Amino acid sequence: MRKTVLIVMLLMLGLLVGNGHTQQPNKVSEFMKLKLQHAQKVLEGLVMEDFDIIEKNAQSLSLLSQAETWQVLQTPDYLQHSGEFRRAANAVTNAAREKNIDGAALAYLEMTMKCVNCHKYVRDVRMAKAGPALEGPQLGK
Ligand code: HEC
Repeated sequence: MRKTVLIVMLLMLGLLVGNGHTQQPNKVSEFMKLKLQHAQKVLEGLVMEDFDIIEKNAQSLSLLSQAETWQVLQTPDYLQHSGEFRRAANAVTNAAREKNIDGAALAYLEMTMKCVNCHKYVRDVRMAKAGPALEGPQLGK
């Protein structure tokens, strides 16, 4: 009996902690800003032709995209955007390893498009949610 109570309490604690986690916009915001820093570093590496800087930061971006904090939306589309972004970041990493500056620059451009595309998607989803009265017919999506 005591064990059951303990387990229930642990579960509730888990819920509380879980909620706290998603209710920390600052943490997400800090995390998301890292993307910008790493992306800027990749650009720096590209113009300086410093393959180490390119590789390190593209790799960090790929890793970030697999972190829990990255998964702000739990939709198949968001996963798709994340996957495409990760592939582009990996392409940057690979080009840097091959010391291919043109390839790295091209992959960087592609990666940047993935940043923009996902942000566009996230904004669209939020707009749809914010205006249910106006966009009634589209709500089911
Ligand atoms: C798969 C989707 C996705 C991709 C790809 C993506 N982001 Fe984001 N980004 C988000 C989400 C979600 C947020 C959080 C938005 C919010 O909660 O308001 C965000 C927030 C941000 C923020 C704002 C942080 C703040 O101050 O709140 C910056 C800056 C940012 N991203 C930069 C980038 C850069 C640079 C890239 C590409 C290197 C990128 N993002 C790629 C989904 C993405």
